[in-house]
Amino acid sequence: MPVTTDELLELHGRIRACTACPLHATRTQAVPGYGPVTARIMAVGEAPGETEDREGKPFVGAAGRLLTRLLEEVGLDRRDIYITNTLKCRPPGNRDPEQSEVEACSHFLDEQVAMLRPDVILVLGRHALGRLLPGAGTITRLHGQRVRRGTRVYVPLYHPAAALYNASLLETLQQDMRLVRGYLDAAEAERAAVLKAQAQQAISAEPPADQMALF
Ligand code: URA
Repeated sequence: MPVTTDELLELHGRIRACTACPLHATRTQAVPGYGPVTARIMAVGEAPGETEDREGKPFVGAAGRLLTRLLEEVGLDRRDIYITNTLKCRPPGNRDPEQSEVEACSHFLDEQVAMLRPDVILVLGRHALGRLLPGAGTITRLHGQRVRRGTRVYVPLYHPAAALYNASLLETLQQDMRLVRGYLDAAEAERAAVLKAQAQQAISAEPPADQMALF
């Protein structure tokens, strides 16, 4: 059963009220995530930065603007994507997340993934990679690849913040986004083929017209 916007908002409410780790004491506000409950794509970053902590939305600072641009370059609209982070609260001074913080926050991301059941999860940077695909390999090795785990499909990507001032990383990220577009198009074609086959099966299972009169 698909979840409703109300159910997702209820989860966002629990995230905003969370005091499970010390980050709640230094945050301005928690940043649960943003995007439609119907999103087929989910993007997971590291943690809110200063702008996100102030505005309560993920990826709204400089890295977020680059993310928006990278998505648009391959014809994707960020309003169709559910965007969130590994940590929902800003670490002071944007330091790296601590393992205890990742663990305390972990169940929220699990709930978000279980609710949305996205076709693909864009894994932005090494912290999200460590959280979502532990032991799979480094971002340098895995970026741009489709990684299947159970029923989920992940694509690790360099974090947009890393590409802000690094032209060659930016080019790699742009190439990887084109791969993402290809994966999505392939998934869409697969879904259309399944629906067509199901429709054909339903038609051939219908009794012939002369038998219909018996019903
Ligand atoms: N970097 C992140 O990882 N997440 C944000 O929301 C913003 C910057």
